[in-house]
Amino acid sequence: MARRFEALRPAVHYVRARWDRLGLRQDDHEVVAEATTYWTGADGGRWQSDSHWEDGLGELWHAVGRESLAISERLARVLGDGLPAGRTLEWGAGGGANAVEFAPACEEFVAVDVVASSLDECARQVARVCSTPVRPVLIDLAEPEAVVEQVGEDSCDLFLCFYVFELLPSQEYAARVLEIARDLLAPGGLAIIQVKYSTNDVSTWSRRRAYRRDLASMTTFAVPEFWELAAAAGLRPRVVELVPRNRLDQRYAYFLLTLP
Ligand SMILES: C[S@@+](CC[C@H](N)C(=O)[O-])C[C@H]1O[C@@H](n2cnc3c(N)ncnc32)[C@H](O)[C@@H]1O
Repeated sequence: MARRFEALRPAVHYVRARWDRLGLRQDDHEVVAEATTYWTGADGGRWQSDSHWEDGLGELWHAVGRESLAISERLARVLGDGLPAGRTLEWGAGGGANAVEFAPACEEFVAVDVVASSLDECARQVARVCSTPVRPVLIDLAEPEAVVEQVGEDSCDLFLCFYVFELLPSQEYAARVLEIARDLLAPGGLAIIQVKYSTNDVSTWSRRRAYRRDLASMTTFAVPEFWELAAAAGLRPRVVELVPRNRLDQRYAYFLLTLP
């Protein structure tokens, strides 16, 4: 059976490519609506695992945060510095897997998410490991820009985002998040953003439809494409590290960006 599916793969890719060229992907509003329904539905074991709660990921939960921190430290060292120790903001903080690793070394941890219960869980996890204050910031998935007023322009020293860009509704939406990062960062601040990269294989390209089914492949980028998108948003890409496969998934690129 599996072999028969393998044989069908080229045909499936061909049909998907035609589908995309015909403009039959869903528009941004539809994908945003489906994404909002999925995340705020907060329903079941799959949701908990997709939200990276400890109960959902099991022993992988610790590995996620440790790997994010190790890669971030390595990237920051390329510029000759460590990670900034002031105010750190994580976009899409989920169940706190990264927060528990980064918060102990910063003055304040700002957790941004579209789900209130994930913000509670993130704050609970950080309180178990350190006394760094956590500021939860709940955003509306359709209006992410509101965060700039809530948190403050030029107010963050480190902007983090892991396992989120792949599930943003579209590349256009991703560009909005990059502009938000630019507005939130203080002079001298750093952003570390992980994206899922695409290759020449059509199956790795952004889906931009059927959110619930394909959320982890909703939005992908060729590596130079993301580099240019970040630059167009007013950030300066400095270094990229590729992780072709990890224990959760595959084709990850971690970008270190600064304000020009
Ligand atoms: C896969 S989890 C990642 C959690 C955490 N960053 C980690 O690496 O463990 C995705 C998180 O992104 C949140 N999310 C989904 N869409 C978002 C959006 N447009 N903006 C911010 N957060 C979003 C979800 O609620 C969920 O908590």
